Amino acid sequence: MKKQEEQMIWVQTVSYEDLAINTGKTIRYQGEEVALFRMKSGKLQAIQNRCPHKEGVLAEGIVCDDHIFCPMHDRKIHLPSGLVQAPDTGCVKTYSTKIEDGTVYIGFPTAEEMAS
Ligand code: FES
Repeated sequence: MKKQEEQMIWVQTVSYEDLAINTGKTIRYQGEEVALFRMKSGKLQAIQNRCPHKEGVLAEGIVCDDHIFCPMHDRKIHLPSGLVQAPDTGCVKTYSTKIEDGTVYIGFPTAEEMAS
């Protein structure tokens, strides 16, 4: 885990306080689009912003506990793991997050890792 974190590029995004609870925020970085959520518990979750079904924009979905419901056809995705819940299948990428001085950072893999 530690090694993985060292290979990440931490990208500064938004102020933690500016994130509305249970409301997705779209973050773009070098062709990747991430849906960032501040959960009711205060935790952050960041996942790929495209549903694996037909590319619904997950930042516009409804959050319920640890899940997001896709706004297009209501597939249920577990935010910490990115796994689509049964009876549907598939998964979305998840991203690490951290807060420094009140600002949220998202960890992206380095360019070499993204290419492999
Ligand atoms: S696009 Fe997400 S459920 Fe169909």
